Amino acid sequence: MTDAPSPAYKGPERVFSGMQPTNGLHLGNYLGALQKFVALQGKFQECIYCVVDLHAITAGPDPKELAAKSREVAAAYLAAGVDPKRSIVFVQSAVREHSELAWVFNCIARMGWLERMTQFKDKAGKHAERMSVGLFDYPVLQAADILLYKATHVPVGEDQKQHLELSRDIAQKFNNDYDAPGFFPLPEPLIQGPGARIMSLRDGSKKMSKSDPSDLTRINLTDDADAILQKVKKATTDPNPLPESKAGLAGRAEVENLVGIYAAVSELSVEDVLNEFGGKGFGAFKPALAEVLAVKLAPIAAEMRRLNADPAALDAILQDGAGRARAIAAPIMDEVRERVGFWRA
Ligand code: TYM
Repeated sequence: MTDAPSPAYKGPERVFSGMQPTNGLHLGNYLGALQKFVALQGKFQECIYCVVDLHAITAGPDPKELAAKSREVAAAYLAAGVDPKRSIVFVQSAVREHSELAWVFNCIARMGWLERMTQFKDKAGKHAERMSVGLFDYPVLQAADILLYKATHVPVGEDQKQHLELSRDIAQKFNNDYDAPGFFPLPEPLIQGPGARIMSLRDGSKKMSKSDPSDLTRINLTDDADAILQKVKKATTDPNPLPESKAGLAGRAEVENLVGIYAAVSELSVEDVLNEFGGKGFGAFKPALAEVLAVKLAPIAAEMRRLNADPAALDAILQDGAGRARAIAAPIMDEVRERVGFWRA
């Protein structure tokens, strides 16, 4: 386990994380986050997994498709092994307190903190003036998601590290401003492991992403064995064999990425993978990698298809999840309202 979530916080440990219902999920989402969601169910009493549709509207999705995409992400959670009896699975907009707490936090977070967020800068590029206020404010809503449940541990990929630091800063400043030491925990990101930063298959300097225009850069959770093999075969490498040790990966970002993927999917260390493949060429490694990927993803894709064929059953699970999420969130939001001094009859 990582450091204590906050020296003054005395409440229960709780896991929270979420994913956006934008285009389908890919291997980076799976290895950076989803695989951890599943594993944490055995380690923590309470795990809360959200489909963050409020965040998704910062990218202006088609309103006719958003609800279906939310169901699809929920189906991916379940297909990967999230158990809706043990964990809470729900859609963010169904629990209105997320938006309410985000407003309170808007009055806690400082402009300067948000101006430092690299993800906003990357997304906005040179057009920051034309971006929505929502996109700028995205990390404040993320802090509200986590702290609405007083979550102490947050499994995410490495790209979320800065947002998690902001959540800790917001929690700390709320506790200070409202003279409430230990009211909010300072949530710990759970980032470690070889899957924390999966890169594009074509360019080892860019992360694997849903928004990359080329589908050859990513493995989608729904890709079949043939598509996986084609993509892995076309993945950028170099003419040298795989190195015998980790040090030999330096300066070979694409190779490091493929070895990291093999390690994360097989739940091995990078050293174990190099012990097996060090000195061998990519003609041997790539088909082996495609094989472990196909074996891992095929049952998930099949289960996603099965679940997506029955939206009513998914809705029942999400409805139940929303009720259980609300039961935790509402009293915490009431406490916040009281601390802040809002009127109450
Ligand atoms: P999203 O949907 O962009 O990503 C979902 C999760 O996938 C991880 N991830 C990756 N991990 C490794 N390699 C990659 N190439 C890769 N690409 C994505 C992300 O780190 C993330 O864990 N802002 C969040 C959604 C969110 C959230 C929250 C997360 C909203 N509220 C509260 C945790 C707690 C996001 O990045 O979503």
